[in-house]
Amino acid sequence: MPDASADRTGPALSALLHETRQFPPPAGFAAQANAQPGIYEEAAADPLAWWERQAEHLQWEQRWDRVLEWDLPYSKWFVGGKLNASVNCVDRHVAAGIGDRVAYHWVGEPEGDTRDITYADLKDLVAQAANALVELGVEAGDRVAIYLPMIPEAVVAMLACARLGAPHSVIFGGFSADALASRILDADARVVVTADGGWRRGTASPLKPAVDAALEQCPDVRSVLVVRRTGQDVAWHEGRDHWWHDLVDRQSTTHEAEAFDAEQPLYIMYTSGTTAKPKGILHTTGGYLVHTSTTHRLVFDLKPERDVFWTAADIGWVTGHSYIVYGPLANGATSVMYEGTPDAGGQDRWWRIVEQHKVSILYTAPTTIRTLMKWGEELPAAHDLSSLRLLGSVGEPINPEAWMWYRTNVGRDRCPIVDTWWQTETGGILISPLPGITATKPGAAMRPLPGISAKVIDNDGNEVGNGEGGYLVLTEPWPGMLRGIWGDPERYQETYWSRFPGYYFAGDGAKLDDDGDLWLLGRVDDVMNVSGHRISTAEIEHALVGHPRVAEAAVVGASDATTGQAVVAFVTVKGEVEGEEGEALVRELRDHVATVISPIAKPRQILLTPDLPKTRSGKIMRRLLRDVAEHRDLGDVTTLLDSSVVSMIDEKMRTGAASDDE
Ligand code: WTA
Repeated sequence: MPDASADRTGPALSALLHETRQFPPPAGFAAQANAQPGIYEEAAADPLAWWERQAEHLQWEQRWDRVLEWDLPYSKWFVGGKLNASVNCVDRHVAAGIGDRVAYHWVGEPEGDTRDITYADLKDLVAQAANALVELGVEAGDRVAIYLPMIPEAVVAMLACARLGAPHSVIFGGFSADALASRILDADARVVVTADGGWRRGTASPLKPAVDAALEQCPDVRSVLVVRRTGQDVAWHEGRDHWWHDLVDRQSTTHEAEAFDAEQPLYIMYTSGTTAKPKGILHTTGGYLVHTSTTHRLVFDLKPERDVFWTAADIGWVTGHSYIVYGPLANGATSVMYEGTPDAGGQDRWWRIVEQHKVSILYTAPTTIRTLMKWGEELPAAHDLSSLRLLGSVGEPINPEAWMWYRTNVGRDRCPIVDTWWQTETGGILISPLPGITATKPGAAMRPLPGISAKVIDNDGNEVGNGEGGYLVLTEPWPGMLRGIWGDPERYQETYWSRFPGYYFAGDGAKLDDDGDLWLLGRVDDVMNVSGHRISTAEIEHALVGHPRVAEAAVVGASDATTGQAVVAFVTVKGEVEGEEGEALVRELRDHVATVISPIAKPRQILLTPDLPKTRSGKIMRRLLRDVAEHRDLGDVTTLLDSSVVSMIDEKMRTGAASDDE
């Protein structure tokens, strides 16, 4: 491996050590699959013509003149074409006579709190919300921040923005007021859509207070639209705040949608990078919609007339954007949308949902699969899961044990598994088996999709051979690719296009096995993947040093059996700390990170140390800290300023002196 950190991800590493098994595509599947043999060759022969044919599945107000304009690193797709994303997701299905089809079986967290929304219902709701946003002064190009739980209004608000050509920026409901404020400011959003709160494991957890606190730092936000979800008391800011049920419900259900340029910004999604400041990933309309709908149709083999598709992810992340909202709706699919956690109302909640709604395609993250595994195979076994026909995984490398458990206990050895690799930046899936065509191996994402060109290269940019590892790069543009980082073109160039000139550098390590199939190995940069969430080490360090007692902090991602990676922080404090005071401070610092960023960023462990291991030039030796955090042998530490520091830290870790596990 060119970089030692590339092979550090526990599950991925164990994947490579595992004896590789292979499962051919099930015979019954292939005959009726959406992707037919020859598709790879067909796309490879003329990728642009192939993408152009996929674009014909959408409704364009005006056809494009050119498929691609490529001025590295900026691409424009379907140049000159005009369309409206919301019309493509909703209106055209109603016009085609399938208005009665359920778009969402929405399942609220409280038992029995469910709602079926047809395409016809959705059309009315989106038109009303669009009219309400217009009343609040929203125009094409304006940014709207959305901070909502997993309720239908989240989809409606996104589509209403898309309908107006106003890019939305959905911020995950788990983010704190500070994280929310920095995103609102960066996007310069003028309107925020939120709720009083949402349900989380049986309790009403508030959202509006975080918005109120955030907006103290965001004077330019003029309107807040508030959904009543839990009925909690909320503070009210007259003139600025509007109840959704007052403003939206009284609007007309008719709204004439304007067709926008294919490159009209559709949304900004913030994601962690290698610095403390999150990156606003920009996606536009035409190419993104082509990419998400095509991959949704081919990778999940979607049959819209009979499938029930369930992406068990949050709308606050890209997986929700592409495979709860845009891909499925563009394809006229019926989806399940579930508000709560997998154990709300019992650890068999998911299996009850699958059984009740006859879910046929389930898409989730390895971390959740490992959690379900821990809860025991008796739970899925006690339910009728015979409706399932395809399973998907996303967000992090899937270890073979979890893959096999998923296949046996959920798929009952019948359902193919698609391990899909992609990123916020890629907009949609790029590497995955195609069910019915590609064989699958537990832990491998197998091969780039038709129309996608990826390579694994070494440090010098040379392609590696079979059996070798290196860096994953994309060598040609693709329709769903990001169009830049909001307001920061230099960072865009620097982050993705400078390491290997001419190629998009994904930041992931990868390996080709002896058959030439692709295995993803995890991040090779300072971005961690905790429970499928991308978290920046720098962002947590920044939060820690913002605490008055902290002098210096170094954060690393250590392997974790359930969450893939876990956050471990090494902290030097100002002044003396001893005994119980240290324990209290560790607790305080963990809570501090949760408050400043989000509970998802809370360190699993914080180690208080008098010093941090540094090189002679003063750089913190993160690799060493990762070794320490994972209890590995330390190897050569002669470049250390003071090697006793490391031995001391290592000693503390081994004896568990500084751990604060929950
Ligand atoms: C990781 C989520 C291995 C990877 C859609 C990537 C994966 C990051 C896989 C993007 C997979 C995602 N196998 N690793 N199937 N899918 N990743 O932006 O490190 O939240 O760079 O997008 O997740 O995370 P993001």
